[in-house]
Amino acid sequence: MLIKSRNTHDCLESEVTDYSLYMQRRRFIETSAKGFGLAMIAPSLLLSACSEASPGSDTTTSAGKQDQELTPYEDVTTYNNFYEFGLGKSDPAKYATKFNVKPWTVKVEGAVENPGTYDLEDLLKGMQQEERIYRLRCVEAWSMVIPWYGFALADLIKKLKPTSTAKYVQFETLYDPKQMPGQRGRALDWPYVEGLRLDEAMNPLAFMATGLYGKDLLGQNGAPFRLVVPWKYGFKSIKSIVAIRFTETEPPTSWNITNSGEYGFYANVNPKVNHPRWSQRKERRIGEFRKRPTLLFNGYGDEVASLYQGMDLKRYF
Ligand code: MTE
Repeated sequence: MLIKSRNTHDCLESEVTDYSLYMQRRRFIETSAKGFGLAMIAPSLLLSACSEASPGSDTTTSAGKQDQELTPYEDVTTYNNFYEFGLGKSDPAKYATKFNVKPWTVKVEGAVENPGTYDLEDLLKGMQQEERIYRLRCVEAWSMVIPWYGFALADLIKKLKPTSTAKYVQFETLYDPKQMPGQRGRALDWPYVEGLRLDEAMNPLAFMATGLYGKDLLGQNGAPFRLVVPWKYGFKSIKSIVAIRFTETEPPTSWNITNSGEYGFYANVNPKVNHPRWSQRKERRIGEFRKRPTLLFNGYGDEVASLYQGMDLKRYF
């Protein structure tokens, strides 16, 4: 099931191409683009056999201009953090094989003009679907480069219409210990919750993913839809969302509840602020041995630094 709200004439090359071929072609396109000085063209424009399908926004960012060799699909779908399915990196792929995401409803509540319980398909109606290559940098100092498929979070928020008192948005993951064996233990305070300041959520980089590599999200990656916030540590990118809540005050977030000394609300990628137990200066790209330097805001500073002007990033970590 690939949740589509784009027109039937729209198509993604990855939908008609085997993914390994898609990947090879993708790498070729990217390399060629660099060689021919096309790096400013949106990846979706370069890719698309049906260019009509390409949305307006140019998602090539300051980080997008760096080396963006894609992490193999195999790694993206077998090396995961999804504690609802277990604490080991291979547990989510092992225990999410039968994860049922149909039907899927999403509760919208709080300071919002259009509250209600929506079928996911209805919620996604009218969203401009597109592909974006984003690097996800986990707080554990590894990263992956993933071709996500989905839509801008800002578009969804505009559809839901928060009221003028809304300052934050909170997201909540499904709580279903029958399907999610990890929830039978107390590793975290279930359900998993995460949040953003509303202006962060409205930033054009904030993304809701329904797929990756041109395929629907698998359970381990947060099916049927999840957040991707590329300038923040991976734990902000909450999976398998069943509730979206608009609030006036900063909402609680799972890792902050669990250990506020180690995990702040903001969680912006910052090589100068170490995790209390390890350095954040470098990271290992999954599939590589060498370490790469970690970049402030994961390299997306041009797009997001203004959100934090005047804030002490050591205090608001
Ligand atoms: N969302 C939920 N509900 N539960 C989780 O345990 N882990 C987070 C985030 N979203 C997590 C979650 C962490 S720590 C990371 S690094 C990313 O998911 C990993 O996403 P990926 O497995 O798709 O790479």
